[in-house]
Amino acid sequence: MAKPPYMRVENLVKRFGPFTALGGVSLDVHAGEIHALLGDNGAGKSTLIKTLSGVHEPTEGQIYIEGAPVEFKSPRDATNAGIGTVYQDLAINPLMSVTRNFFMGREIANAFGTLRMKEMDGITRDEMLKIGIDISDPSQAVGTMSGGQRQTLAIARAIYFGAKILILDEPTSALGQKQQMEVLKTVMRVRSRGDIAIIFITHNEIHSKLVGDRYTFLALGKVIGSGTRNSLAGEDIRRLMAGGAEIADLEKELSEI
Ligand SMILES: Nc1ncnc2c1ncn2[C@@H]1O[C@H](COP(=O)(O)OP(=O)(O)OP(=O)(O)O)[C@@H](O)[C@H]1O
Ligand SMILES: [Mg+2]
Repeated sequence: MAKPPYMRVENLVKRFGPFTALGGVSLDVHAGEIHALLGDNGAGKSTLIKTLSGVHEPTEGQIYIEGAPVEFKSPRDATNAGIGTVYQDLAINPLMSVTRNFFMGREIANAFGTLRMKEMDGITRDEMLKIGIDISDPSQAVGTMSGGQRQTLAIARAIYFGAKILILDEPTSALGQKQQMEVLKTVMRVRSRGDIAIIFITHNEIHSKLVGDRYTFLALGKVIGSGTRNSLAGEDIRRLMAGGAEIADLEKELSEI
């Protein structure tokens, strides 16, 4: 029998006033798998992940984690439920050290409030190494790291602080090709742990093909296609991406009349 999904999203609707940003989205997310979420601008990708991350409350629909219904009133609720979201801005301060960024707001201190820098440096180095980046000096400023390494830092931090569902919002979009590869490798290393479910948001068809186990295509807040790597042939992915773009174009044209 197939494993039940780690997280199930059922018929999620999100309205902003009269505007429906999500019109009944369902998807399953499994541990040890990468679920690629694709769709053009305005498809509702960010709205969906904000709803899964406790930023927005859904208008309708239900989220389940390990079969139990959950409700997030705040991002903290979602974090506590094991949702770790890495937004495009990464919430990283380039002027601060790798370690200070890793522990930002969750520092380890002794009873007198003094930070245990050595201990935090060690954890940061170890956790980064686990997903393939050797930071010999974690007291170095993040500004010295590449864009790909910064993504890895944000991912390692989310996992260390308990993420079981890792949501990555366009992690490769702002990077050069070599850096993009680095991030894809990081994501594959997280996948290989087997205990973390990954939602990978992307515009990039090639990246989605390289790493995706499952796919959901959004257009104008609706799922226009979904499937597993095996059930979707390469051409289907291209067609669905194009279909999403076409629907959005037509809608825009019609709205101008
Ligand atoms: N807070 C909000 N209030 C009103 N409308 C919103 C709000 N947030 C998003 N929308 C609208 O919902 C739709 C989906 O937006 P969303 O940002 O989720 O798309 P996206 O798929 O992430 O696009 P992109 O690829 O450009 O990031 C858009 O038409 C957007 O204008
Ligand atoms: Mg977006």
